Amino acid sequence: MTLKNRVMMTPMGTNFAEQNGEMSFMHINYYEQRAKGGVGLIMVENICVDYPLGSNGTSQLRLDQDSYMPRLYKLTETVHKHGACIGVQINHAGASAKEARTGMQPVSASDIPSKTGSEVPRPLEKEEIYEIVKKYGETAKRAQQCGFDCVEIHAGHSYLISQFISPLTNKRTDEFGGSAENRYRFARLVLEEVRKQVGPFFPIFVRISADEFLEGGNTLEDTLNDLQYMGDEADAYDVSAALNDSLYKQIDSNYFPDGWRSYMAKAVKEKYGKPCVTMGNIRSPKRAEEILANGDADIIGMGRGLIAEPEWVNKVAEGREDELRKCISCNIGCIWHRAALNQPIRCTVNPAVAVGEDYAKRKVKKNCNVVVVGGGTAGLEAACTAAEVGCTVFLLEKSAKLGGLAELISDIPEKTRMKDFPNYLRNRASKLHNLFIFTETEANVDLVKKFHPDIVVNATGSLPFTPPITGVNELLNKDDSKVANIMKMMERMPYPDDMKRDKVVIAGGGAVALDVMEYFVRRNADVTMVEMMPSIGARMDTVTKLDQDNCMKEYGVHQMVSTTLQEVKEDRFIVKNPQGEIEEVPFDYAFMCLGLKAYNPVLEELQKGFADTNVEVYNIGDSLRARHIIEGTEEGRNILEVIERKGFFE
Ligand SMILES: Cc1cc2nc3c(=O)[nH]c(=O)nc-3n(C[C@H](O)[C@H](O)[C@H](O)COP(=O)(O)O)c2cc1C
Ligand code: SF4
Repeated sequence: MTLKNRVMMTPMGTNFAEQNGEMSFMHINYYEQRAKGGVGLIMVENICVDYPLGSNGTSQLRLDQDSYMPRLYKLTETVHKHGACIGVQINHAGASAKEARTGMQPVSASDIPSKTGSEVPRPLEKEEIYEIVKKYGETAKRAQQCGFDCVEIHAGHSYLISQFISPLTNKRTDEFGGSAENRYRFARLVLEEVRKQVGPFFPIFVRISADEFLEGGNTLEDTLNDLQYMGDEADAYDVSAALNDSLYKQIDSNYFPDGWRSYMAKAVKEKYGKPCVTMGNIRSPKRAEEILANGDADIIGMGRGLIAEPEWVNKVAEGREDELRKCISCNIGCIWHRAALNQPIRCTVNPAVAVGEDYAKRKVKKNCNVVVVGGGTAGLEAACTAAEVGCTVFLLEKSAKLGGLAELISDIPEKTRMKDFPNYLRNRASKLHNLFIFTETEANVDLVKKFHPDIVVNATGSLPFTPPITGVNELLNKDDSKVANIMKMMERMPYPDDMKRDKVVIAGGGAVALDVMEYFVRRNADVTMVEMMPSIGARMDTVTKLDQDNCMKEYGVHQMVSTTLQEVKEDRFIVKNPQGEIEEVPFDYAFMCLGLKAYNPVLEELQKGFADTNVEVYNIGDSLRARHIIEGTEEGRNILEVIERKGFFE
């Protein structure tokens, strides 16, 4: 197999498959876009070798039967047209399957759940192990017949093979447990069976969790020593990391630098002399090149980077790096949707993950003036989209800077990756000659009317919500006060690098509160969180929550949950604890992070001003309702629907 370049799309479950596990046409379109975008190798998401017992996810692809082959053939044929190679990751979920979906108790090496608090599996009988080995082989053979160029065996990430490999989940006393050689036996049998089925000239990749990043789990050193027991049939190692309980090092949190874990691929490559893939927050072409040039890895794996930017390779190859729409590793649209919400994947920065960018080929048939009020991410997406289809767009932004809350929050050092999104939008906007941007311009209905709009977009965002708690009005954000909200905190940044255990108390337990917590614990503050709900971060995405829980544990954050704030004083909060008792929580700094609420300074005026006209006032993003960035991006792109219903398209 010869790849046209060294970028591989890593396998990522999408929930795009049909309900029966067949690939859908939309799914083919999704992969085709990435192939068109220039990627050298696509490794299709984990496909089920043993249904329903080994299935994973809400609507997972299957290849346990011949009937799934024709549509997958169509996929390989489509991808090959664009010069890309394509493989598929074959997998048995083991204890990561869910009884609620399969109707069966999950199976594993032993009776240990694949993550804290999840279902207890049943240990596999020996005969069952051999049956499953055969199923891997049969599935690989089918993959070959479907026209795939290679297969990848998933031996990491808390799925069945990894559950055998990890001493944390394998407590067997037979020849499949105990020593490393025994724990790797299942993997070796699978590899040998797959090789038997596909023959000597068909590449086999093996994905491993080189470091499990859990106490008592395999370290990189263990893996380097033990991989020998997998035998010699692998042609390449796809060097991933972590298990379910350390997921934020596998689907990396945003603060990890690009390619931070390439040292693992380097170590495996040096020890075993096989081509290795590395991945993990790799978004910067310079960093990708550096990894290859240093010889740390042979192939750059890119997952979320290609959800966000299918054209990453072409843009880089053509010197259009400034146009890259980089993934910001927020984990909202992709993994949260897929793994926690049973939804198909979406993306915070790319509102067209599955359907692609063809919208820009459509143009308005007559002049359409669009006025966008507010230059945050939602407003910018709406303005760019409308301009791209030929509207004349005027964007009015009150402040001196575009980018809104995303721009502001990403001034927190741990959040800088988020800045890539407003940067991308600003750059995209700057190239559109029919988009006119007015900063430091406060909108009112008379000004908006001067642009003779056909459509007005209200995208004025959100502001911190401050409930009427005794004392808060007198103290919040005042010059000599210790009590601030996120806006004031950003204004006062940077705080000292070493806060010498100063007491920081945060009211609230949502995303902003946790960002504030993360900022201060890393500066040696003594942090307390006061949250009314029974847990902190209850509505966070899975990966971030795991990471933040870990961070709170590591830095000893005091978590006062089911606790309500009664009064704010100069240097203390008065709270009611879960037992109904009143307590005092003293602070050197206090932050009110009790959520955001829609900010609509001109909406009503606009609605009234255009009430008797044909002009539509379209309210989007946080000014409709404070939510994640992703909803604003989607609603910004949905301006296409307004343009359509107003009759401006052919
Ligand atoms: C939505 C989603 C689904 C994923 N599904 C798989 C999968 O099916 N198999 C797998 O080995 N890794 C899976 N991963 C991990 C990715 O392949 C990749 O290793 C990880 O996201 C880190 O690389 P990145 O920073 O380039 O995204 C998934 C990641 C995401 C975000
Ligand atoms: S949703 Fe967030 S993490 Fe996922 S691909 Fe998009 S930007 Fe990246």
